[in-house]
Amino acid sequence: MEELFSAAVRRTTQGRHRDAERATFLGDLVRGALPLAGYAGMVAQHHHIYSVLEEAAAVMRDDPVAGAFVHDGLTRGPALEADLRLLLGDGWLERSAPSAATLRYTQRLREVCFTWPGGFVAHHYTRYLGDLSGGQHIAAAVRRHYATAATGFYVFDAIGSPAAFKARYREALDSAAWSDEERRRVLDEVLVAYQLNIDVLDDLGREYADGQAA
Ligand code: HEM
Repeated sequence: MEELFSAAVRRTTQGRHRDAERATFLGDLVRGALPLAGYAGMVAQHHHIYSVLEEAAAVMRDDPVAGAFVHDGLTRGPALEADLRLLLGDGWLERSAPSAATLRYTQRLREVCFTWPGGFVAHHYTRYLGDLSGGQHIAAAVRRHYATAATGFYVFDAIGSPAAFKARYREALDSAAWSDEERRRVLDEVLVAYQLNIDVLDDLGREYADGQAA
């Protein structure tokens, strides 16, 4: 039987997923070894990334293919702002400078997510399915180790059951009207998206090395 596209994406990106999951910064974060400023730094980078991704979602929501993936319950912008206000106070925006890796990430999002539906889906998939999966482990660890209520980013209370949502999302990947060639391009862009995430985590790792107060 021919492999489903969603299964091919998962299989082909397994190695990159392992690299992302094992990023030193995430390891330090989930074992409570970072200063709270390290977590705030990650939320600040997310803010820049989602701001562009969700701008693209507003454009792509009427697209016949990409529109099937857009769901208002996924929108992270307001939760990120609320989390950053808790973490950094009223001056949160000025204290949330994008890192060099985040600037490369947002530049790539601007290049591919506004005019190429498959590119948008590749980036949308990598972030939101990650947030609904490993993101939930990260949130649990942050709640356990750090004295902060700023984990609204990880709360998806308007999509129903996350497992059912992910199953429908994979069905949408499988039924998108893409040629084999387009599927290959989308898969390649998922790999690019993983690399951009790894780069952002590595930048954060250099900024907030374990044991160093920020
Ligand atoms: C502490 C770090 C992480 C852990 C523990 C983790 C764990 C997991 C687990 C257990 C799943 C499978 C969920 C399921 O089958 O429903 C998953 C899926 C996924 N994760 Fe992660 N993850 C982490 C970090 C990341 C990062 C940094 C990214 C990229 C931004 C990411 C992107 C994804 C994606 C896209 C999926 C969906 C794969 C698919 O089924 O197609 N994860 N993660």
